[in-house]
Amino acid sequence: MLRADLFTIKPMQAINLVAMNEAVSAVKSLWPQAKPKLGIILGSGWGGAIEGFAVKESLPYGKIPNLGKAGAPGHAGQLIHAELNGTEIFIFQGRRHLYEGEGWTPVVLPVWILKQFGAQTVLLTNASGGIRDGLRPGTLMAIEDHINLLGGNPLAGLHNASFGDRFPDQTAVYDHDLRQALIAAGADASGVYLATSGPTFETPAEIRAFRALGADAVGMSTVPEAIFANALGLKVAGLSCVCNWAAGLGDEKLSGADVIRTANEAMPRMRTALRQFTGNVFN
Ligand code: HPA
Repeated sequence: MLRADLFTIKPMQAINLVAMNEAVSAVKSLWPQAKPKLGIILGSGWGGAIEGFAVKESLPYGKIPNLGKAGAPGHAGQLIHAELNGTEIFIFQGRRHLYEGEGWTPVVLPVWILKQFGAQTVLLTNASGGIRDGLRPGTLMAIEDHINLLGGNPLAGLHNASFGDRFPDQTAVYDHDLRQALIAAGADASGVYLATSGPTFETPAEIRAFRALGADAVGMSTVPEAIFANALGLKVAGLSCVCNWAAGLGDEKLSGADVIRTANEAMPRMRTALRQFTGNVFN
């Protein structure tokens, strides 16, 4: 039988605080003692980058109400409570995307969980297409700023004081010192990340336009979480693995599978970067 709701895509549906708090309660009842200092959201291809972190416990996303299943390839879909040199960390192994059509709630929920558990810092990782000369596949780019071309904003809707200011300042969404820590941990470059809603890759004409706008790399994520985390007062770091030349800049057609393959090739450096970043910032 056809279900009407399967066809009701509400990509810009406003954040649902009740749904987010249900998720927080569920995790708190299972892990009442957890005190993460840092949250890491692992983007496409990053799932295997947490080797070296001691896993204390883990929770499939299916057990966290309203988070749903991470639907994109390379996203395992579990929350891991881990530790590195005594620093407690929540690692979201798999992210939800706007293009999955379930609104902003599942996209920003990991950030809300971090905030409610008292974490003060979040590291957002992703895969991207390189636009700036020199940002070849395999480059690790610390995100210095972003351009939001998602077509919407997670803070649109009725204002809720627990989400911070109605008009949050965006002058320094990505923390300067954390960016330096990413460079010290092995990031090759820093640059501006532009987010589109996806799920299509871009056209060559769009990439030429994005380059003119000042974008260094392009992807389909990260910006919602960065906007929300910054509004909530968390310190934000962003690290992108450039996995392909953006459309029209290389010889090959783009595919999700190739993105994951390049990320796997860069995996040893991604692992080192996560370990060293965490060690440098918290020890
Ligand atoms: N465009 C958008 N998202 C991406 C890309 C890209 O070229 N590569 C990896 N994620």
